[in-house]
Amino acid sequence: MRLGPVLLDGPFVLAPMAGVSDPPFRRLCRRNGASLVCAEMVSANALHFKDKRSQRMLEVFPDEHPLSLQVFGSDPDRLAKAAKMAAAAGADIVDLNCGCPVPKVMRTGAGLALTKDEKNLARCLEKMVSAVNVPVTAKFRLGARRGRNDAVRLARLAESCGVAAVTVHARWKDAGHSGPPDLEALHDVAAEVRIPVLGNGGVQTAADARRMIETGCVGVMVGQAAMGNPLIFRELWEGEKAKPFSERGVFDLLLEHARMNVAYFGEKLGIVRLRKVMGAYIKNFPQAATFRHRAYQVETLSELVELLNQVRP
Ligand SMILES: Cc1cc2nc3c(=O)[nH]c(=O)nc-3n(C[C@H](O)[C@H](O)[C@H](O)COP(=O)(O)O)c2cc1C
Repeated sequence: MRLGPVLLDGPFVLAPMAGVSDPPFRRLCRRNGASLVCAEMVSANALHFKDKRSQRMLEVFPDEHPLSLQVFGSDPDRLAKAAKMAAAAGADIVDLNCGCPVPKVMRTGAGLALTKDEKNLARCLEKMVSAVNVPVTAKFRLGARRGRNDAVRLARLAESCGVAAVTVHARWKDAGHSGPPDLEALHDVAAEVRIPVLGNGGVQTAADARRMIETGCVGVMVGQAAMGNPLIFRELWEGEKAKPFSERGVFDLLLEHARMNVAYFGEKLGIVRLRKVMGAYIKNFPQAATFRHRAYQVETLSELVELLNQVRP
């Protein structure tokens, strides 16, 4: 699969997820079969004002490539500057967030709100495309109002601005992040443009991925099903032949994630960020209830290792 000049070895992509798609998690997903990993969104305004935390969100590790860094904002010049910074940091692709429905983001005219002013959206995309030598992509939802497929028009607009590919989160705004994707609406977008379309929304199994690709998408982006489960990418590759992973293997992966988080974020923040996904790693195991209850009290890596040793098969 090709997104502009960027060649991917397969169709399975890790979605950008704020607070989740950080370097440790992205590296684990790459290692387990994600063909492209997308970083959590970074504010173009915050980068403009040299916010240290946001600058660090552009950090890229050598074993992550190919990688997409995503920016959000509504000012064409600041977005172009942010795109340049992302490309200079090592992004193979720079993505513009045009789908985030979170009020804090929408209030600034960014995310989903950016699609309300299509002239400004076009300016933002054009400036980003001219600012960098790497491909620029855009990620949309189907639309703010159920049944009115804005993504068809927005994908066409993105294509005319020189965007290399679009991702469509095949849900309407009111669905949030749950419920089945609207595959018919996704097909309508894929049929409308010549640039590659990545489908997204509700992919949990190889069969889900196949159905999404059958709509005409070149690949699928996986979000929540990858949280606490980087092994999903192996399952997607292996399809029905996939064997369940041993409990031992999953415990080891969780421990590796914890070690990488602590190395990257420091012990306190590394463990706090891991809490969000710890339960998901072992959700199907008989010890899950005991583990989950105690995992939320864990504050250090050695406490986590001790707990894992107690519940490990
Ligand atoms: C915790 C969380 C954070 C997210 N952050 C972002 C983000 O930073 N940028 C973005 O474009 N989408 C973001 N999303 C949306 C996902 O990329 C994806 O579109 C959505 O989860 C649907 O895919 P799924 O059904 O596979 O989870 C986020 C979703 C979740 C659950």
